[in-house]
Amino acid sequence: SQIEDFQIQLLNWYDINKKPLPWRKTKAPYQIWISEIMAQQTQVETVIPYYERFMTKYPTVESLAQADDAELLKMWEGLGYYSRVRNLKLAAQQMIRDFDGQFPSDLTDILSLKGIGPYTAAAIASISFNLAEPAIDGNLMRVTSRLFELDSDISKSNARKSFDEVLRPLISSERPGDFNQALMDIGSQICTPKIARCEICPLNQYCQAYKEGTQLNFPVKTKK
Ligand code: ADE
Repeated sequence: SQIEDFQIQLLNWYDINKKPLPWRKTKAPYQIWISEIMAQQTQVETVIPYYERFMTKYPTVESLAQADDAELLKMWEGLGYYSRVRNLKLAAQQMIRDFDGQFPSDLTDILSLKGIGPYTAAAIASISFNLAEPAIDGNLMRVTSRLFELDSDISKSNARKSFDEVLRPLISSERPGDFNQALMDIGSQICTPKIARCEICPLNQYCQAYKEGTQLNFPVKTKK
């Protein structure tokens, strides 16, 4: 089918071209969680050394739950948005209290953790627990808006729902985490905000904006 062909093109491209990121060597939810929180407002290349140091100092939920606040903040210096790291410790304590010190595997439970919103929950659920949840961030919205000439305004909070509706039927149920991460890599390397390198995109044959030459009109974004 068209959908299977799309998945095969995307995942074959990913198998050859994926960024070698340290957290891609594991599916462990603790590792994936930390990497996703760090990567939220920061380029992944910048995140790598922070991630490595953090994992050495805080290798487990328990060690993070008991972290010294000053030392923890110091690990974050340069990443900014310090509420992220305060929430990490609170969520680790929540896991000790509510989930027996284990990272929960249920989407609703993951979403109940401090600092974890719909994007991060879907990223962890798909990568660590093989749940077919589209992880909708700015990259995925840009790629998806171009693929379908989807004109939902991405500055509006209701946009997520339209992107979810389009992506949910497409996501690979065999490899949902790789599906999401392949789209993230395409969004950061090929289908970028100011340039769309469509000639090298594995999805160009499925892309409505490429067909119409309208790549740079998407995504639609009103407020700045
Ligand atoms: N940005 C945020 N999370 C990412 C991931 N898992 N892979 C690539 N880019 C990302």
